[in-house]
Amino acid sequence: MKEIVVSGIRSTGRLHLGNYFGAMRNFLKMQHEYNCFFFIADYHSLTTHPAPNDFHENVRQVLVEYLACGLDPDAATIYVQSDIPEIPELYLLLNMNAYVGELERCTSFKDKIRKQPDNINAGLLTYPSLMAADILIHRAVKVPVGKDQEQHLEMARTFGNRFNRIYRTELFPEPYAFNFGTELVKIPGLDGSGKMGKSEGEGNAIFLSDPEDVIRKKVMRAVTDSGPTELNQKKPEAIKNLFLLMNAVSSHDTYSFFEDKYAQMQIRYGDMKKQLAEDMAAFCKPFRERIEELSKDSEYVGKVARVGAEKARVSAQETVRNARKAIGIRSFY
Ligand code: TRP
Repeated sequence: MKEIVVSGIRSTGRLHLGNYFGAMRNFLKMQHEYNCFFFIADYHSLTTHPAPNDFHENVRQVLVEYLACGLDPDAATIYVQSDIPEIPELYLLLNMNAYVGELERCTSFKDKIRKQPDNINAGLLTYPSLMAADILIHRAVKVPVGKDQEQHLEMARTFGNRFNRIYRTELFPEPYAFNFGTELVKIPGLDGSGKMGKSEGEGNAIFLSDPEDVIRKKVMRAVTDSGPTELNQKKPEAIKNLFLLMNAVSSHDTYSFFEDKYAQMQIRYGDMKKQLAEDMAAFCKPFRERIEELSKDSEYVGKVARVGAEKARVSAQETVRNARKAIGIRSFY
């Protein structure tokens, strides 16, 4: 039996290179090794954006982009959270034993209080119970997420264990964060500091769906400096980042060419950025084309979502049936 993996994908925002080299490549490798459930966490987005006017379109775009990257509906179960009514049902059951005190102590909740003081809703408070339901619904043991989700995972373990204890069952195993393989390639943003996508600035991230001219413009505007003043000088942050980006999308020869130039103090950042822009555009092109293709094929996308939901519900229904049984919920008919 393959181990069960669950991961939720945020339902807003286009995929950028940082997402691709991070979570996506992880998913692509995992989908063949494990029993993977990948879903678009659209309910979660309502905790911060309760009345979006493009809800469905956002979900569709994210689904299309993940499929375009090679997420394979024949290998993994790919679905939309809101297509699985058993998730909110388990969420409700978990909430009965989720204590307000522990939910209030969650750092992501405290962050949100600061960010949206006018909308501190119960969905925000119980975000960890919804996420626990996402994971426990398939009795997953592995969850490919970054450090920022560690506390949520710990709460998923707490809620699962608590359920097991209170209702004297072994229904829920403990889910742990994990990454397939060891190296996660860190992709910096173009504004000279931090991870790609971390800052909101339009020019900071290269999206897989960006047209070539947009990519060129963004890359040419990337932050640099006046160049090294000593042989083999240590690179400042912004320059290191430029090289990290080049390492991700350019050939090894190209990369070493500019490394040498830098070491020799002969680097011209204009030339380097031109090359980087070309290589990035070439890297993104097949993805952009596939995104465009899939965007036109609503029949295929619809089928993927339907088949994914059907598969996910088989597993989800079994879990909810067992959870209800453990509590002692029975129908009269
Ligand atoms: N909270 C996760 C994030 O912000 C998304 C998410 C929701 C998730 N449900 C999940 C991730 C279940 C893993 C498993 O990225």
